[in-house]
Formats: sequence, structure tokens, C-alpha cells
Amino acid sequence: MTAQLIDGNALARQVRTEVAGRVAALKQRGITPHLSVILVGDNPASMVYVRNKVADSEQTGLKATLERYPAAFAQAELLARIRALNVDPDVHGILVQLPLPPHMDAQAVIETIAPEKDVDGFHVASAGALMIGRPGFRPCTPYGCMRMLDSIGYSLKAKHAVVIGRSNIVGKPMALMLLAQNATVTICHSATLDLAHHTRDADVVVAAVGKRNVLTADMVKPGAVVIDVGMNRDDHGKLCGDVDFAGVSQVAGWITPVPGGVGPMTRAMLLVNTIEAAQTAHQTGSK
Ligand code: GUN
Repeated sequence: MTAQLIDGNALARQVRTEVAGRVAALKQRGITPHLSVILVGDNPASMVYVRNKVADSEQTGLKATLERYPAAFAQAELLARIRALNVDPDVHGILVQLPLPPHMDAQAVIETIAPEKDVDGFHVASAGALMIGRPGFRPCTPYGCMRMLDSIGYSLKAKHAVVIGRSNIVGKPMALMLLAQNATVTICHSATLDLAHHTRDADVVVAAVGKRNVLTADMVKPGAVVIDVGMNRDDHGKLCGDVDFAGVSQVAGWITPVPGGVGPMTRAMLLVNTIEAAQTAHQTGSK
């Protein structure tokens, strides 16, 4: 392996320590940052995710409340619950775990969250703020990727960044964040004709497709930074990303592992957004 590893676990620990310091300072003023998490249904992966989010929050000193509702819960009732949380001054962040059951309109649910409590950064107001370069909550996964690039002192100015994937949660906001740092950005997706043509020219590749081996060694420019957002299982049931780690780490300059890369950073940036929400609510924040 020639690439240097960007250790998401270590960096996330550092971020959590920073957040814990900010939480302690707020608590001294009688303010307890509070994240409210809503889970509808019993998707096993979602249950693991929300438990981790609550545990991370509590470990960092934030209060976290988990509300669970059955899969058959009416959307109107969910919206009423979100509206109640919107006006609860003790709640600073609201997160509705996705996916929602098929009878619900996920975007309508997200739009019901007050933008100042949208710690996932999925509200159209947050997406719009990112689009035009205004302050607002950034989606946690691309935000975490940016923090990883920052951790290696990487300047994106005039670099070519290729994002593979165009989801609202990762691909699109990732591209906008890279653009905001003056990268030249290419977004590739399922209809891209020659993916390797683009990635071979890239100084930075972010793979966010949800498919194994989307990026292999022959597709990477020597020395490039490779960030793997994927979360898949290999033939032995082992967790793996979108990148052929063994091969690409022979060519890349920097690479993030799976597990222990982007995943822990996504969780850490949720805590950052929540402390920002609490600070802004009490007018001490820098946002
Ligand atoms: N489902 C998968 N990832 C996420 C996330 O980051 N936020 C929410 N709310 N749901 C998810």
C-alpha cells in the first residue's frame, strides 16, 4: 500500500472532543443541546443507525431523545409531532431517519422540520443555502468528507474533483461543497458513458454509489485522494465500500477505509450541526 490512510475513527474522535467542549460551555449557561430523533417502522439498519446517533450524542454530553412509531403511523400524525418539536424551545435539532415507510412522502416530512432545527441538512432551505453559498446546515456525509480533506491540509483550489453519484444526500451536496472550495467538479452517474475517462483525470475522487468496485486501480491517477462513501457487503458478508481498496491503495496518495472512514465522520458531523443549532438558538453561535 502506497496511499496514506485518512483515519475516520481518529478524526471523528477529535471532532467529538471539540463538540464536547462546546456542549460543556453551553451547559454552564444552563443550556443542554438536545437532538430529537424520530424512527418510523422497524428497518433493522435504521434501528442500528439511530441507536448509534443517540449513543454518540449522549457520549458527547448532548441530550438525545428517540421517538419510535409503528410502520403504519399516519403521515398527518408524524407531521403534527414534528410541528410540536419545531416550537419546543428545549429541542435544538430534529432528525427523521430515512427511509420512511412507502405510504409517506419523505420530502414533505422533511420540509415540515423547521429549517433552524434541520440538523440533517436535507430541508430545501438548507439545500438552497448550500447552492447559493449562504450559511446553513450541511448534510453530514459530504460535510464529513470535507472535514477529512481539511484534515490532510488539502487545498481544492484549481483541482479536478470527480463525484460518482448524484443523490440529494451525498452526491449533489458533495459537488457543491467541493465547488465552494474552488475545485473544478465533475459529477458522474449511472448514465455516464466512460467513468474511467473522468476519474483518471481526477485529483480527488468521491465514490458515493452504493456498489462494490465502482472504482478500481486502473481508474485512478497516481497520488489522487480517494474518498469512499460506500457501505456494502462483500461475498463473505464483510463490510466494504465502493472502492477496490486493495488495488486503489497501491495507486492513490490518500484513501479512506471502509469501515472506519466516512461513516464515523457522518455521525460526528451530526453532533457538530446539533451544537451549532443549539448555539444559534441561544444567539452565541458563529453561523
Ligand atoms: N438514512 C441513511 N442515512 C441517513 C441520514 O444521514 N439521515 C437520515 N435522517 N436518514 C438516513
